[in-house]
Amino acid sequence: MALSWLLLSAATLLGAGAEITISPEPAQPAEGDNVTLAVRGLSGEVLAYSWYAGAEPSLARLVASYIVSTGDETPGPAHTGRESVRPDGSLHLRAALPAHSGAYTLQTLNRQLQTELGHGRLQVYEILAPPVVVANSTELVERRDALRLECSNPSPADVRWFFNGEALPVTLRLGLSPDGRALSRHGVRREEAGAYQCEVRNPVSSSRSAPLNLTVYFGPERVAILQDSTTRTGCTIKVDFNSSLTLWCSSRSCPEPEYLWSFNGRALPNGRDHVNISSMTAAQEGTYTCIAKNPKTLLSGSASVVVKLSAATVAMTIVPVPGKPTEGQDVTLTVQGYPKDLLVYAWYRGPAAEPNRLLSQLPSGNWIAGPAHSGREVGFANCSLQVQKLNLTDAGRYTLKTVTLQGKTEALEVELQVALLE
Ligand SMILES: *[C@@H]1O[C@H](CO)[C@@H](O)[C@H](O)[C@H]1NC(C)=O
Ligand SMILES: *[C@@H]1O[C@H](CO)[C@@H](O)[C@H](O)[C@H]1NC(C)=O
Ligand SMILES: *[C@@H]1O[C@H](CO)[C@@H](O)[C@H](O)[C@H]1NC(C)=O
Ligand SMILES: *[C@@H]1O[C@H](CO)[C@@H](O)[C@H](O)[C@H]1NC(C)=O
Ligand SMILES: *[C@@H]1O[C@H](CO)[C@@H](O)[C@H](O)[C@H]1NC(C)=O
Ligand SMILES: *[C@@H]1O[C@H](CO)[C@@H](O)[C@H](O)[C@H]1NC(C)=O
Ligand SMILES: *[C@@H]1O[C@H](CO)[C@@H](O)[C@H](O)[C@H]1NC(C)=O
Repeated sequence: MALSWLLLSAATLLGAGAEITISPEPAQPAEGDNVTLAVRGLSGEVLAYSWYAGAEPSLARLVASYIVSTGDETPGPAHTGRESVRPDGSLHLRAALPAHSGAYTLQTLNRQLQTELGHGRLQVYEILAPPVVVANSTELVERRDALRLECSNPSPADVRWFFNGEALPVTLRLGLSPDGRALSRHGVRREEAGAYQCEVRNPVSSSRSAPLNLTVYFGPERVAILQDSTTRTGCTIKVDFNSSLTLWCSSRSCPEPEYLWSFNGRALPNGRDHVNISSMTAAQEGTYTCIAKNPKTLLSGSASVVVKLSAATVAMTIVPVPGKPTEGQDVTLTVQGYPKDLLVYAWYRGPAAEPNRLLSQLPSGNWIAGPAHSGREVGFANCSLQVQKLNLTDAGRYTLKTVTLQGKTEALEVELQVALLE
């Protein structure tokens, strides 16, 4: 306390100019504000003031001179039409502009014709306009292309970045240039796709850019063929005869890939993400391959499955209903587990499939009686055979022969017992 008082007194006695201070009011003016460069620490009686734009007095940069006794103000070459000197020596700037920023020097003249200098600095802050996020390309390929964004704004300002509306994540912040205006990363990742904004900020304003949407293309990855809506994958798919099947080609890809299907090495005219097998037969057995091709990354991936007809799972059986029929009753020889892809069946009376023993057959939906038909037998589409009004000579062996669309034949016998009517 004592020391600072001593120093101050010494300065006053010496008449040195060091104690003249110049400070802007307001301290951080925005463009358009009226600013006063206030002067403090003047000593003695001042006759005239001269204000200069610059760190040193120079006639070429004279803003204005002011004679205290008359109030006469003489503008100099650096006068912009907005400055005026006040009787207390302060310089007033009406609607100051950023261009008014810089160093200012005040020179005073006293009665002893001694001059003193005072120095100050003015910073007029711009009301910042929204910056623009600039990118060479907004469509990038993952790992191949570099992410490069710039926050374009000519004014001095602090820059902050936003990613999908939130402050930029740390991993992305690592790619910022020292001045914060450029964001760059080698080998962009899909997580870095999104909306980018930058914000410029100074003591009087802040302004945020419109979002710039960045797309990152990738894939296809994990190309797989899925069966119907299930997520089950496998190398072989077994399909029942005459049932339908849809094979889906799935992959992770941006954008959606183009699909190429082939069947046993031959291209299928399809172009969709799925192929339909509406009715399974042997002709549809084989290898189905899907190639997924990303038009942007120019990468492709493929997957294959083998489609097979499923083997008959249930063995065929013949059961008489009722089990022990009596003379005069009807009996049905019911067949379970007959082939689904049945082309034709034939019933024979006796143990062997001989033409003269043919009872009935059912080719392509039409029932036909054979040589051994007694007039009391009826065949059904489900392979069953009904024998009506049984008599004792009906007892014995019956043979069923089936032929599938694949040409597979199967023969099965059944022993029919007929009980004597009491
Ligand atoms: C600046 O001063 C002028 C008068 O000198 C006045 O008309 C104007 O409204 C003032 N502007 C502001 C922003 O205070
Ligand atoms: C745009 O590309 C040019 C030349 O490749 C490069 O110098 C510049 O930094 C890029 N700018 C942005 C914003 O990516
Ligand atoms: C960016 O993406 C958002 C959300 O998808 C959308 O609303 C906006 O219109 C897009 N902007 C541009 C410039 O494409
Ligand atoms: C195949 O299935 C359809 C309907 O599911 C049926 O109408 C048709 O008769 C079946 N064909 C064969 C040979 O089983
Ligand atoms: C395949 O079948 C599905 C549904 O069963 C149908 O929506 C789709 O259009 C079919 N696709 C083709 C190529 O026929
Ligand atoms: C076969 O069809 C006949 C006549 O429609 C029926 O009476 C019989 O129960 C069926 N048998 C089986 C095993 O479905
Ligand atoms: C049993 O049926 C066969 C054929 O219809 C017939 O020839 C025979 O006479 C019948 N036997 C008796 C005992 O009714």
